[in-house]
Amino acid sequence: MSRDDLLLANYAIVKAATEQLVKHSPKAILIVVSNPLDAMAQTALMVSKFPKQRVIGMAGVLDTARFRTFLAEELQVSVENVTAVVLGGHGDTMVPLVRLSSVSGIPLTELLSQEKLDAIVERTKNGGAEIVKHLKTGSAYYAPSAAAVEMAESILKDKKKVLPAAAYLEGEYGISGLFVGVPVKLGAAGIEKIYEIKLSADEQAALRKSADAVKELVEVIQSKQ
Ligand code: 2OP
Repeated sequence: MSRDDLLLANYAIVKAATEQLVKHSPKAILIVVSNPLDAMAQTALMVSKFPKQRVIGMAGVLDTARFRTFLAEELQVSVENVTAVVLGGHGDTMVPLVRLSSVSGIPLTELLSQEKLDAIVERTKNGGAEIVKHLKTGSAYYAPSAAAVEMAESILKDKKKVLPAAAYLEGEYGISGLFVGVPVKLGAAGIEKIYEIKLSADEQAALRKSADAVKELVEVIQSKQ
């Protein structure tokens, strides 16, 4: 089963939970973790009618954690020295950005062959399915919860961490009206800033493709409104 297969079942659950949440906690900041992630964040935004800064999808912290882990394993270095950027929807079309990832500032292309990098990028995209295969039933829970806690902590303690997360875009990266994973600053107000990185033509095309995959799902739920 892919993340997208959960669309209709999780739409009903997220909608009902959001309706209750708005009643009881109208000032909350929502960190959505249900799949398909970007479409469920959009469901929570549509149903809550909260300002976009207060609805955030957890995916990028998880996806970059996987990307960083696979790189650290391959290079036999501390994962703490690996910084990585992953953009796009939380699905098979996510966009791990090799160009902007490094080991203590050393570009990945200086450290690994293109073939190895391509394999790690593919493994990152399929990281969720890899865990599901090990678990047999259910899906990842430890890394997703650690990722959500890191986001919540940045908000609660107003740490203003810059983390990848699904944010509602209105023109950033040429994308409008959709949740897509991008680097954001998380503080007491929720999403306090969306960082727009200059992308190469290939990276922009990959991000567009990923946003289109999110859009297909969002169109299905919009037809249910
Ligand atoms: C994950 O990536 C299944 O989306 C979940 O672990």
